[in-house]
Amino acid sequence: MADQINGKKVASVVLDACRAEVAELMAEGRRPGLAVVLVGSDPASEVYVASKERTCLDLGMHSRKLELPASTSQEKLLEVVADLNADEDIDGILVQSPLPPHMDEGEVVRAINPAKDVDGFHPENVAKLALEDPSGFVPCTPLGCQRLLEAYAIDPAGKHVVIVGRSLIVGKSLALLLMAKGPWANATVTVAHSRTQDLVAVTRQADILVAAVGVPEMLGAEHVREGAVVLDVGVNRVDDPEKKRGYRLCGDVDFSAVEPLASAITPVPGGVGPMTIAMLMSNTVKACRARRGQQEER
Ligand code: GUN
Repeated sequence: MADQINGKKVASVVLDACRAEVAELMAEGRRPGLAVVLVGSDPASEVYVASKERTCLDLGMHSRKLELPASTSQEKLLEVVADLNADEDIDGILVQSPLPPHMDEGEVVRAINPAKDVDGFHPENVAKLALEDPSGFVPCTPLGCQRLLEAYAIDPAGKHVVIVGRSLIVGKSLALLLMAKGPWANATVTVAHSRTQDLVAVTRQADILVAAVGVPEMLGAEHVREGAVVLDVGVNRVDDPEKKRGYRLCGDVDFSAVEPLASAITPVPGGVGPMTIAMLMSNTVKACRARRGQQEER
């Protein structure tokens, strides 16, 4: 039976450290501020955005939520981003993905000041991750995965990490993060995806298996070698008439099938999910500190 990796508990430790840093910054007259922009009314995005705002306020940070209709033009959204770039009270800007189909997400991300890009999606921050330059911002979910490994003393150094999913938000960034030289990294990384041949043969090589595909319960017992560590990044809503809200949340891993085999595993919910928000807060505090340092140099 696997140890269950408790993301809620680790996230609360990260958030406590953020709360202390916010208090320190406030004493110096700086309050970290995060702006979250939501375009349209995707139900899952609404839940995420509300949770980000709640966490900000709980930590004593400044929070601004901008809700724009789905019909908003690209130009209007770029104007909103430009205003936030210029706003001294805002240290971090997050434009919630996915955007409506008529919008060019890449152009919006490139419009964000890289020093405020707490999502870590701007090309400058992606390059800094690839170059192992610690001044950049690393995407929150990969950072959360690494922090979970650290909290459970699971050192990826020299281990074979197999990541299923090649998105920039998770798979590709996590690969860069865990193959970097440095603590809680130095892994041998394989990235598998929808075109991978004989996925089972690849995933069975994993000492640490990360599922980030967005397909409910896609990875089963056959994909996992006995004793592997399994991180499940998936958050999928599947219809469940027995639930009051009409759906249940599940991961990309068939938890009940894999749990008896794994040495440690993250549940969904309560695993990687809470870490993402905690690392967003941590990135926002980092942005505030860095911007403050620059102001003092001027
Ligand atoms: N949508 C789902 N996850 C994320 C995230 O980490 N950042 C943004 N901006 N949108 C998301």
